[in-house]
Amino acid sequence: MRTLTLLLILTLTYTTILPQTSQHPNDESCLTHLFQSFKPNTNLKSTTFSNPCSDFTSNIPGATCNNGRIYKLSLQNLNLVGPISPFISNCTNLQSLDLSNNTITGTIPVDFKYLVNLAVLNLSSNHINGNIPPELANCNYLNVIDLHGNVLSGNIPFQLGSLVRLNVFDVSYNKLSGVIPESVGRKFNVSSFVGNKGLYGYPLSSTRKSAGSLSVVAIVCVGLGSGLLSLVFSFSVVCVWLRLSDAKRENEQQGKARELMPDY
Ligand SMILES: *[C@@H]1O[C@H](CO)[C@@H](O)[C@H](O)[C@H]1NC(C)=O
Ligand SMILES: *[C@@H]1O[C@H](CO)[C@@H](O)[C@H](O)[C@H]1NC(C)=O
Ligand SMILES: *[C@@H]1O[C@H](CO)[C@@H](O)[C@H](O)[C@H]1NC(C)=O
Ligand SMILES: *[C@@H]1O[C@H](CO)[C@@H](O)[C@H](O)[C@H]1NC(C)=O
Repeated sequence: MRTLTLLLILTLTYTTILPQTSQHPNDESCLTHLFQSFKPNTNLKSTTFSNPCSDFTSNIPGATCNNGRIYKLSLQNLNLVGPISPFISNCTNLQSLDLSNNTITGTIPVDFKYLVNLAVLNLSSNHINGNIPPELANCNYLNVIDLHGNVLSGNIPFQLGSLVRLNVFDVSYNKLSGVIPESVGRKFNVSSFVGNKGLYGYPLSSTRKSAGSLSVVAIVCVGLGSGLLSLVFSFSVVCVWLRLSDAKRENEQQGKARELMPDY
């Protein structure tokens, strides 16, 4: 009876503490889905994904194996077009993922949270949109997060401040906004954050643009603009009126002159 209770407690602890590792690791599924989500690409032609790590080196270009599992995937500069499949999370031993300098679209899948061994994530120079998922903070070994040169929007999640191993963090040249979380801002310099119009706070010098002063400027502009417009309008009205009355006077004078002229 006691062993049964212990077993029950153990199972409960296991399932509640470690829900993330309950994913079934499957490199073949990971790669098949990943490459299917990209448009057909001459750089990846005639690649089969079964048993990707049957050898010491993988038959997949850019993939490196260790102990029969893919641990590194370097697919930069390949003209890849399309979104990142959430099945990337099936590559559970992945430590380094480089998809930089392609035309990757869509969002960063939250499923990245299952890649608990991930240390290097380079998605820079793509067309990735949406938010930076706070769930990335789940990947405790993250050392490098390079997301520069995309169209990411929203705030920088404060949760990323809890990544104690994070050495390189680059979100420059996106469309991020809001205040830089103190936990992230104090660890990195300006070059990590530049090129995001709506972003403010340390280490960027800019402060939040006050909505009040902005609307005052807008009101003044609209006021000046409409003032100028009505001025131009009244001026043209006066001009036209003057012209018309001039023409009328001329007509009348011509008429009078004709009256005075003798008929032949
Ligand atoms: C593979 O990843 C997808 C997306 O995260 C998930 O739904 C699926 O359960 C995973 N498959 C396996 C076999 O773990
Ligand atoms: C990006 O990839 C293109 C080819 O797709 C290549 O010509 C260019 O040099 C690459 N840029 C960098 C910075 O590696
Ligand atoms: C990420 O990839 C880009 C382009 O391939 C490269 O220039 C950059 O140095 C990489 N980032 C890091 C932190 O290694
Ligand atoms: C920012 O820090 C990086 C290293 O993390 C360094 O290479 C770079 O020169 C620094 N840039 C500025 C503007 O201080």
